[in-house]
Amino acid sequence: MKILIKGGTVFDPSAGTLRDLDVLIEDARVIKVESGISGRGAIVLDASGMLVSPGLIDMHVHLREPGYEYKETIATGTAAALSGGFTAVAAMPNTNPVADNPAIIEFIRKQAAAAANARVYPVGAITRGLEGNVLAEMGEMHAAGALAFSNDGRPVVSAGVMRRAMQYARMVGVPIISHCEDDTLVDGGVMSEGLTASVLGLKGIPAAAEEVIVARDLLLAETTGCALHVAHVSTAGSVRLIREAKRRGVPVTAEATAHHFVLTDEAVAGYNTSAKVNPPLRSRTDVQAVLEGLADGSIDVIASDHAPHADYEKAVEFDQAAMGLVGLETTLGLVFTYLVEPGVLTAAEALTRLTANPARILGLPETVLKPGAVADITVIDTHCEWEVDPNRFLSKSQNTPFAGFKLRGQAVATIVAGKIRKHSGVRSQ
Ligand code: DOR
Repeated sequence: MKILIKGGTVFDPSAGTLRDLDVLIEDARVIKVESGISGRGAIVLDASGMLVSPGLIDMHVHLREPGYEYKETIATGTAAALSGGFTAVAAMPNTNPVADNPAIIEFIRKQAAAAANARVYPVGAITRGLEGNVLAEMGEMHAAGALAFSNDGRPVVSAGVMRRAMQYARMVGVPIISHCEDDTLVDGGVMSEGLTASVLGLKGIPAAAEEVIVARDLLLAETTGCALHVAHVSTAGSVRLIREAKRRGVPVTAEATAHHFVLTDEAVAGYNTSAKVNPPLRSRTDVQAVLEGLADGSIDVIASDHAPHADYEKAVEFDQAAMGLVGLETTLGLVFTYLVEPGVLTAAEALTRLTANPARILGLPETVLKPGAVADITVIDTHCEWEVDPNRFLSKSQNTPFAGFKLRGQAVATIVAGKIRKHSGVRSQ
């Protein structure tokens, strides 16, 4: 089967260019990228006025399977990914049982293959059971398909364990994705320390709870030579530490989530549990620093940290509510509305943080639309205005602080291995 994506503006992350070209796909591969390709014998997607990008990759997603299928399954999470424009996701290991051994990694890959939605790249746990004490079977998990290691959701408290994990990960040739949080500084806090926390009478989490571990892990990456990826950067101090470390040549990359560059701690006002997330939403100064970090390249990646929770886990007292929010179906719209439209990033810069950069960090094939490349493609209507309605999410969970937000920019076609998996709004002939 041939598909012709006609009249769009094609993004090439290897050159950072946007050019008006047609893309012809046959079976699973791109076969031509030129202007004026004939549509004879092909399904034609009219992409005039739209961006045609290599498939978007979300390198920080919680798919919840095995163990928490009431929140999300691999099938529903990957359907949500396609809906949001992502052709691939990296799945975090805080499942039940924890993805800390090759059997679970294989199970995740099997379920992903059966779902046949977006691609799933499993992330293995750094330590057994996420307990922080004993290293997990990293080599075996890597052989089974784990592309990175992380205890996301929990910190690795012991510097000694983290150092050994980095030495091992370096040997295996994969990155450590660090959830930077010092429990002793969190000390029971439930939102960011600051005026809003004081007004609400909620215990605050200081910025140092994140920064202390960012500083430690940068040091360990520097001395071990391990590729460190700092997950969900939320504070100005973390951005500064990462920027300085990059200048020194420390092998570090970092990511920011849309909620950390769009919202402040004020979103928690009224004890809004849909805005309860870890790390917490921070001050305006922190948001500004995250935006600057994205703009100057200190932060390499935009990821959702899609963290689905059931209604009953959020409809409780703020102190008791689960942390996290769903993001697969809102991230792209938030990126175009809050980064591209105000000129924080160009469309090409934003898309690089959603394609080439996560691919490079995870050791995936180059994301570029050229003859011979695997046809993973996202077609984006950057003008389309839409309102976030959680009832329309394909995710099993609806915990979002963005309900009712009016966004501009949406994926209208998501193509995985040459198959159109989401198709809305693109006129076909
Ligand atoms: O808010 C969060 N939720 N932060 C994390 O790091 C983990 C995630 C989850 O798994 O729910």
